[in-house]
Amino acid sequence: SRQRGQVHYDDRQQCWQILGHPEAEAVLADPATFSSDLSDLLPQQEDFELFERGNFVRMDPPRHRMLRGLVSQAFTPRMVAGLTPRIAEVTEEILDASDGGDRLDLIEDLAYPLPVIVIAELLGIPTSDRPVFRRWADALFERGDVDPDQSLTSVSEEAVKAVAPTMREMNAYLLEHIRNRRVNPGDDLTSKLLQAQVDGRRLDDGEIVGFVGLLLLAGHITTTATLGNAVLGFDEHPDAVVEVRVDPTLLPAAIEEVLRHRTPFPRLGRLATTDVAVGDAVIPARGVVVVWLAAANRDERVFAEPNRFDIHRVPNPHLTFGRGIHFCLGAPLARLEAKIALGILLERYREIRVATDAPVEHRNPWVMVSVSKLPL
Ligand code: HEM
Repeated sequence: SRQRGQVHYDDRQQCWQILGHPEAEAVLADPATFSSDLSDLLPQQEDFELFERGNFVRMDPPRHRMLRGLVSQAFTPRMVAGLTPRIAEVTEEILDASDGGDRLDLIEDLAYPLPVIVIAELLGIPTSDRPVFRRWADALFERGDVDPDQSLTSVSEEAVKAVAPTMREMNAYLLEHIRNRRVNPGDDLTSKLLQAQVDGRRLDDGEIVGFVGLLLLAGHITTTATLGNAVLGFDEHPDAVVEVRVDPTLLPAAIEEVLRHRTPFPRLGRLATTDVAVGDAVIPARGVVVVWLAAANRDERVFAEPNRFDIHRVPNPHLTFGRGIHFCLGAPLARLEAKIALGILLERYREIRVATDAPVEHRNPWVMVSVSKLPL
């Protein structure tokens, strides 16, 4: 729908669609005009309240800044670099455990367990419960009901009802974890959050539920998507893999191109707080704004031949991790996990091909651009 303008109103979805790269950047860089707090658009639901109290991705300044500040130290590139040996060890261990001869399901055997183990260890949550986290992530992200022709708000109402039981279960699990850490503190992020102060007071258990839940979910499902998308992209472009095998220093640039070419979170939502001009359009106050990261990442004004997978795009100013104050906190961790895991895969296996005799399964791309099964 780019012919309808880089910024245009969509009658069916009743929202403003932002497709262009500079326009998307402008929206994301201005949180005072484009709020991340969409709670007015969603039906109030008790099961979500607890989670939303600590879920700072949906908050505006100044509260956003205070809460993000509490955990940002743990996710700086320097802190994250310290996890390198552990990420490599977990990758080797899970590949050793799942080695089924020349067969592998990338998602089942590596892309899912690796990031979930890493983030659960950081949070001090038992990694053995990961089938439970996967059930939550699947319920929250596998929304078959999301359809591009439906209005965003009507979709939300149904979706909220459908995922309420999952929310309830997640809240109860995390509350128990938090209470346990209060009694038996460890060296993990949850224990540190229990000690932290905002505005001269400690966070309450409810706020920490949202915090830990956000990190647990955001911390694995997107990296799973990226590893799957990388192997899929490499399979489609064997020449690029040959280049990376010859010169492994090309791997980070190849990962950036995977992130641009298959954008895990295709869109972000915002709410205009005042009448505002974006590109050629004027968005009225209270207008619902959908920023299409996936479309901005294919804006030909910024990326030559945008549909081409090209590992030599340097710089590669994709918007896959967002922009501005909500820029993905986990980007250094996601990039490091992808570099280590893909590096080990390429070292371990002389040739990696997607199987032709078993189906590749895709998630609903309107929600998340990712495969859920990738037999190799
Ligand atoms: C925020 C994408 C990995 C934690 C975001 C945002 C995007 C994003 C687009 C901005 C949301 C907005 O502006 O509304 C991704 C992608 C990932 C990834 C594509 C993997 C390739 C991770 C990981 C973690 C994480 C590994 C956890 C450690 C977060 C958090 C926020 C966030 C906490 C909220 C930041 C804020 O509101 O200030 N992510 N993410 N993400 N991400 Fe990620």
